[in-house]
Amino acid sequence: MAPDAPLPPGSVIGILGGGQLGRMLAMAAAEMGFRVHVFAPPGDNPATDVAHASTLAAWDDFAALDAFAAAVDAITYEFENIPVATAEFLASRKPLRPGVRALAVAQDRLNEKTLAQDLGIAVPLFRPVDAAAELAEARTFVGHTGRPAILKTRRLGYDGKGQAVIRSDADAAAAWPAIGGVPAILEEMIPFTREISVLVARGADGTVRVFDVPENRHRHGILDTSTVPAAVTPGLARRAEAIGRRIAEELGYVGLLAVELFVEGEGDDAKLLFNEIAPRVHNSGHWTTDACLVSQFEQHIRAVAGWPLGDPRRHSDVVMTNLIGADIDAWPALAAEPGARLHLYGKAESRPGRKMGHVNRIRPRSG
Ligand SMILES: Nc1ncnc2c1ncn2[C@@H]1O[C@H](COP(=O)(O)OP(=O)(O)OP(=O)(O)O)[C@@H](O)[C@H]1O
Ligand SMILES: [Mg+2]
Repeated sequence: MAPDAPLPPGSVIGILGGGQLGRMLAMAAAEMGFRVHVFAPPGDNPATDVAHASTLAAWDDFAALDAFAAAVDAITYEFENIPVATAEFLASRKPLRPGVRALAVAQDRLNEKTLAQDLGIAVPLFRPVDAAAELAEARTFVGHTGRPAILKTRRLGYDGKGQAVIRSDADAAAAWPAIGGVPAILEEMIPFTREISVLVARGADGTVRVFDVPENRHRHGILDTSTVPAAVTPGLARRAEAIGRRIAEELGYVGLLAVELFVEGEGDDAKLLFNEIAPRVHNSGHWTTDACLVSQFEQHIRAVAGWPLGDPRRHSDVVMTNLIGADIDAWPALAAEPGARLHLYGKAESRPGRKMGHVNRIRPRSG
């Protein structure tokens, strides 16, 4: 088979990571006639429940990685904290989509903000902070407009973990130990009117398709709801879309890319500021499963398999609500609710702050 030929149904797609994103990718892949082989470290891996095969091994188990690569036709990931050495090893054996560069950039907040800035995309003021002694200078730079600041670990942060808000000298003294004293960046806090994300898919042939922009609300640092349509003007949505395309093109990206943006102000003149990227399907795209012709999961698998991208057209309005921790106990009522579509992740144990499922509440499209 030519290296760029689309993978035929029956091919095996390897997914790195075994969480709910991998699970939903595996289900989309199955609908397209593919088989999925999950590679994940041992633990609670709900993706393995719906996969054809699984390898449970450490990210640095190169013998297991070698056997996995031999068993699959293309590889993708549902999790951006896979060691770059692991990704490089796999990419030398089978097509890895998205590629190593997207993964490496997204693993480090300094790299992703620098990339956005280099592309001329507005970002919050930021400064790297590699040691406690650098925090004072960074505060002067980032805080000169009088806004509070937020210290974030450069690596491994998710769901608002590894972050400390700094409004005072006392906060500043506590912030460095609070984030674990690891390399960080200090950012200005943006008094945003709303948060949105761009869900952009780029195919192996460079074709780009963008989903409608969702508006995202967070609770305790964790995504709570994504609402579509977002309360933004068409002009602003187009500007957001252009940012997503620009980044996907720069990275030579193949797959679904999420770009989180802050909106400052209202209307067409509102400012858009880059927050971060996720080189994978994203929680703020879970509504696409029930409100669009093709979901973010299918779109991602299509790109990975070298298929033409699908039509991301939205046929319904939707609010996606995450079920965090004990929220899942409401499943009987949610299962009975008209217009609601319930998605549960099959995780063995519910813990506070853990994403257990989501519900998509659908209404006829308003416009
Ligand atoms: N500079 C900022 N100004 C204002 N709010 C911010 C800023 N940075 C982060 N936040 C708030 O905290 C949330 C989480 O921050 P961020 O996306 O950087 O971290 P994360 O841990 O990677 O989150 P997630 O995994 O939910 O995407 C943001 O969505 C936003 O609500
Ligand atoms: Mg985020």
